[in-house]
Amino acid sequence: MPKPIRKAVFPVAGLGTRFLPATKAMPKEMLTVVDRPIIQHVVDEARAGGIEHFIFVTGRNKGVIEDHFDSQFELERTLKERGKAGELEALQRDLPKPGQTSFTRQQSPLGLGHAVWCAREIVGNEPFALLLPDVLHYAETPCIGEMIKAYGQRPGNYIAVAPVPADQTHQYGIVGLEDANAKTSRITRMVEKPKSGTAPSNLHISGRYILEPEIFRILDAGERGAGGEIQITDAMIRMAETRPFYAFRFDGTIYDCGSKIGFLAANVAYALARPDLAPALRGELKKLL
Ligand code: UTP
Repeated sequence: MPKPIRKAVFPVAGLGTRFLPATKAMPKEMLTVVDRPIIQHVVDEARAGGIEHFIFVTGRNKGVIEDHFDSQFELERTLKERGKAGELEALQRDLPKPGQTSFTRQQSPLGLGHAVWCAREIVGNEPFALLLPDVLHYAETPCIGEMIKAYGQRPGNYIAVAPVPADQTHQYGIVGLEDANAKTSRITRMVEKPKSGTAPSNLHISGRYILEPEIFRILDAGERGAGGEIQITDAMIRMAETRPFYAFRFDGTIYDCGSKIGFLAANVAYALARPDLAPALRGELKKLL
């Protein structure tokens, strides 16, 4: 029996420089897509996928993320007094149960690999999910939940992948696969930002992972890669020398909310999926366009 995937890591310690000045005092992960912070959407995905423990790797200026996942006694009391039962119920539904969250700090943003490594003591010796909180994976069934199912049938490390236009592969981590058409396939190559014309496919690493705890032993070395940062892809490339890595092909839509266009598109798409907002928004968009 493979060990179950119970824990998920959310690295939220980055500086969010592409969103300045919005992110000067407020974490990028707390920007809202419609009426939920981006990080809440990603935690929703993990919870729907069966995750029971949510580990946040935070940094300076990120305290508000911790507050967001805590109960707000005064707010709840006020909602109750004002008879706002629906709002109160929604807040309570979103709240993780006592003991389901952990917070650790990455003292300086040395890269995604380093942020993941900071969670090693909380994850312990078990496979875990890793979700990049600024990339929304929009689908009927949660991406990480599908990956957990695939892991249950064939244990190993899993990386969600999705196609990008061939002329953009140099901006991403790209994988080569044994069977490019299968839903899950063994990864034969991983390359971080391949030079134009050298990419093994057009499938990029999209920000959802299932990783075995051996990754922490590799990250222990603290090796710096592209941009002087400790990169998770470099650690995965090393680990793939001895451990199986599979790609999970994500067929939904991806919104990179770390970029302004991705963030704006996510807001429109998520609002258009809401029956309470879609008709009025359609009217507004028609006027603008
Ligand atoms: P990004 O590179 O997209 O985020 O990392 P960033 O560095 O905050 O953004 P820009 O490029 O300056 O605008 C992806 C995720 O990894 C986290 C970020 O918070 C983000 O959610 N991260 C990145 C860390 O937690 N620590 C790091 O050292 C780097």
